[in-house]
Amino acid sequence: MSKPSILVVGTGYVGLTCAACFANQGFKVTGLDIDEAKVDLLSSGTSPIFEPGLDELLTAGLESGLLEFTTSSEAASTADVVFLCLPTPPLPTGTPDISILRSAIVQYRESLKSGAAVVTKSTVPLGTSKDVAAWLDRDDVHLVSNPEFLREGSAIHDFLNPDRVVVGSLNHDAALVVQSLYDGLPGERILCDPLSAELIKYAANAFLATKLSFVNELARICDEVGGDVDAVTHGIGTDHRIADSFLTPGPGWGGSCFPKDVAGLAALARSSRLRVPVIESAVESNRDHFDHVITQIRKHVGKPLQGANVAMWGIAFKAGTDDTRSSPALDIAERLAAEQCQVRAADPVAKVDGNLFTQMDMYDACDAADLLVIATEWNEFRDADLAQVAARLGQPTILDLRGIISSEAAAEHGLTVHALGRPH
Ligand code: UDX
Repeated sequence: MSKPSILVVGTGYVGLTCAACFANQGFKVTGLDIDEAKVDLLSSGTSPIFEPGLDELLTAGLESGLLEFTTSSEAASTADVVFLCLPTPPLPTGTPDISILRSAIVQYRESLKSGAAVVTKSTVPLGTSKDVAAWLDRDDVHLVSNPEFLREGSAIHDFLNPDRVVVGSLNHDAALVVQSLYDGLPGERILCDPLSAELIKYAANAFLATKLSFVNELARICDEVGGDVDAVTHGIGTDHRIADSFLTPGPGWGGSCFPKDVAGLAALARSSRLRVPVIESAVESNRDHFDHVITQIRKHVGKPLQGANVAMWGIAFKAGTDDTRSSPALDIAERLAAEQCQVRAADPVAKVDGNLFTQMDMYDACDAADLLVIATEWNEFRDADLAQVAARLGQPTILDLRGIISSEAAAEHGLTVHALGRPH
């Protein structure tokens, strides 16, 4: 039997990764987007987003003829499987806005081939598959929910090495077709109903965010009462029921998914008049953590923030991406700017417009600074030339929010490193 052909609607971060990876797995894939400039760029082999390994897969896919991009909706009429990878930005209530999804379905519904599977891939509110079925209004087209669990910065790796592939559908044959697209890849297969599949995505992100809120609280406890958070997280992470990943304290969790998905789940519960204090508290705790970070900055600057100079390494919400959506670094910079503190920032990839801070080379940012704050765990910062940092800083102090600088190595250059929850 020939391999199913795939249409990916929406070539944003999720859609583009899926399109490139499915082509890499030998499927014929078309990426459909309404943005002509983006389609031209992609067709020339250039990715509009920074994601390690994506450019290579894009080029290989185009060269093999398995991958192509178009703005033409005609592509919808030949595909066996149609992945919907469209944006669902949050509404003020926290609930994701699915109007873009709706417009796309209304636009393509007539063209879809009989027997096609329509798959929701990007995170959608619980119950969206029912809405999609109503908008489609076609008995001969089957709905599948196949949530993605891709981390920015390692999306290609995550796609090709999934822990699990979740396929939710009321139509067993359609579920098996979608599942078969992952036959070359490892990981558990989880077949379930569409609503459970949608909930698995929310639950995974809400659970991980809660785990981080918890671990950041441990760091705050260590900052106040002593103890070393690294020893504590190692001590609990060796318990296989807890597991040892996602236990590194940081400046607070951010990015395009966690804040949106946790808020989305909480909003859903509220709309059902359900109390979900654990989920709500994860968000509140993260807010408290930003306050704690500012308190630490204030303490280590050692003088009023008004008129002080802070160097900030890292703008992206984490290393390996240029994404600054809900980046803790931006939150910190905003709070410092509100107190008339001058911030000079450096990031190997991420850029932001505006006057929150001046962006420059990582060492130039240190010139005469009262404090160096490390907000993103890039290797460029991990491997920094500490002699140069010491020579440039006004006060020889680093607040390492990611715990990536060895305090012993820094001390050799007369630098003092403070890290969240760690003794110094
Ligand atoms: C997340 C999920 O991991 C992914 O499965 C989902 O599909 C999309 O959302 P992503 O947003 O790319 O991925 O980032 P992730 O690597 O999960 O980190 C989220 C936040 O937690 C970041 O702000 C990161 O800096 C922070 N983090 C992560 C920590 O502070 N400590 C850790 O140990 C891990």
